[in-house]
Order: sequence, then C-alpha cells, then structure tokens
Amino acid sequence: MNEEIPLFQEPTDFGEDEFSSALVLVTNACNLRCKHCFVYREETPNESRDKMTDECMLYQLRRLRDKHRIRSMLFMGGEPLIKSKLVFEAMELFEQSSIVTNGTYGIPSVPGHLVTVSLDGPKALNDQIRGEGVFDKVRQSIFAHHLKDDTTVMLQMTVTKKNAEFIEAFVEQVECWPISGIAFTFYVPDQDDHGENAWNDLVERDDVIRKLIELKKIHPMIKSNIGALQLMLSEYSLSATGLHGENCRLKKMLPLYVGKGGQFERTFCCYGNNVDCSRCGAYGVFNSVYNQQRRNSRA
Ligand SMILES: C[S@@+](CC[C@H](N)C(=O)[O-])C[C@H]1O[C@@H](n2cnc3c(N)ncnc32)[C@H](O)[C@@H]1O
Ligand code: SF4
Ligand code: SF4
Repeated sequence: MNEEIPLFQEPTDFGEDEFSSALVLVTNACNLRCKHCFVYREETPNESRDKMTDECMLYQLRRLRDKHRIRSMLFMGGEPLIKSKLVFEAMELFEQSSIVTNGTYGIPSVPGHLVTVSLDGPKALNDQIRGEGVFDKVRQSIFAHHLKDDTTVMLQMTVTKKNAEFIEAFVEQVECWPISGIAFTFYVPDQDDHGENAWNDLVERDDVIRKLIELKKIHPMIKSNIGALQLMLSEYSLSATGLHGENCRLKKMLPLYVGKGGQFERTFCCYGNNVDCSRCGAYGVFNSVYNQQRRNSRA
C-alpha cells in the first residue's frame, strides 16, 4: 500500500480546550535586548536555533486554530517583523489579528488591524532600556507610515520601577505623533526578581498607578481605562490575578512559544514560566476583568 507521508509535523497536543485567543512567537530572534524582557529569561523557550519553517508554522497554526477554535491571534516574538512575510500570511488565518513590534523594521501596513509599537520612556531613558538610537528609529518609522492606510498604530510603554517617574515626560514627547493612542502595561516580574525593574510589592506600585490615572484625565491620547487601572491597585489586584494566577483571565489565552526542536510549547502564561502573579502588571489581565464587570452590570 502506498501511504502518504505527511508534509509537516503535527502540532504539539495541547488538549481539547477551546481558546478563543492565542499568541504566537513567530521567531525567538530579536535585534534588541531590552533590559526588562521576559522572552529572554532563563526558563523561557527562547533559543533562536529552535525554529520552524514558515510553511510548517502556517500548517500548524491552521491545525491549532481548527482544533481550539482560535479566533484571534496576537503575533509577537522576539521581533515578529523579522518574519514579516510569515506574519502577513498567518494573519489571513484568523478572524482578528494584531502585531506587537519594536518598531525598528518600520510599521507594517495591515489595514483594519492593530499594530502596537513598544517604547519605554522618553528618548534618553528608552534608549538605555531598548538600545542606542531606537527611539529615533521608531519615531522615523511612525512618521513614515503616517496616513498610509487605516492600520491602527498604538504606542505601548511597559512601566517598570526604573522608568515609572518618566511616564509624563514620555507622554509629552509622543502625544503629537501620528498615532491612535498610547497604552500602558506594567512590569511582570519573575518569582525571584527583586532587581531595578520590579516593585517589591503591590503597595509600592500604587503611587505610579494613581499618577497614571491622573495623567489620563488630562492627556486624551492615553487610552488605558481608568476602571482597569483602579483594579491594579493593591486593594484589588490579587482578586484579578490570584497569588498563583488562579483568577487570571489571560490564562484563557493559548501562548505558543517555539521550543526545543522547533515545536510549539505552551508556557505557564503569555509571560513565560516562572512569573510572580502576586506582582503581575499585565494590563490585559485587569482590563479583561473591568470589561467583564461592565458587561455584567449591563445585563
Ligand atoms: C516581548 S515584546 C515582543 C514584541 C516586540 N519585540 C516588542 O518589543 O514589542 C512584547 C511586549 O512585551 C513587553 N514586555 C517585555 N518584558 C516584559 C515584562 N517583563 N513585563 C511586562 N511587559 C514586558 C515589551 O515591552 C513589549 O511591549
Ligand atoms: S524588542 Fe521586544 S522581544 Fe526584543 S528584547 Fe525588546 S521586548 Fe524583548
Ligand atoms: S503573571 Fe501571567 S498568569 Fe500570572 S496573573 Fe499575570 S498574566 Fe496571569
């Protein structure tokens, strides 16, 4: 009998659960090495030698989409635009797609989709964190893309203990740029992380959150929801996360990292394997609770 040999390896078995949304690290490679980055931590699958061919990734993403009924996909890395052709093809597979990029490869034209561009403070501080010359390169990319199409371009600052006092200076530098808005997310530390980026506890972080809430009232380009930011305050934060992520709504998202041998691996959550949920700053966790509360109050 002439058995057909499958062209591509089947994806890793992640069980039978439905995941309406997922994220994929299309590559473990990145041209930057930002100081706070969770991708390049020890416990994270991050070897750039571990890769999957584009064709295999498209095949596996299609299989996973059908099995887990994935409707929305977030493309990231490493730097996803190192693999821009793959990203554009893979975006066609999903009802909704978005990209998070460091902005140094230009802003992709993906009309109707969201492109989030990361910058971590005003120019001097951003370049200390993200690398010399990165701020100007990103600025150039954003102005070069201006008005090309209806791609939604948002800037995102990851607030850490180190850059927290420069939020206002950052907003003032970028609010006149041709973007749709500025988003903020907060540092997600590892369990043993007491370095310069991490607050020791949630109470220590509260002042920064309150400051951002005040800034939002006077800077309309800040798109963070006040209700979601309030949930990040130490009084409420653990109810959204749990000490070990047991309440976390982001855990309903399937994280697809490229692991050993170029096969997909699922990490504990989008932020890797050794995260400290009791100090989590992922805005999406709190915004998801906030949106749920709003839906409940309307019902
Ligand atoms: C890991 S990067 C990948 C995409 C792309 N290379 C970039 O920098 O946007 C995605 C986002 O995660 C943020 N990030 C990195 N490490 C983080 C951490 N420990 N806690 C919270 N956000 C983090 C980055 O600042 C960036 O906005
Ligand atoms: S550009 Fe993105 S993936 Fe690369 S090191 Fe920085 S945060 Fe990490
Ligand atoms: S660290 Fe990960 S699992 Fe824990 S609360 Fe944050 S997003 Fe959820």
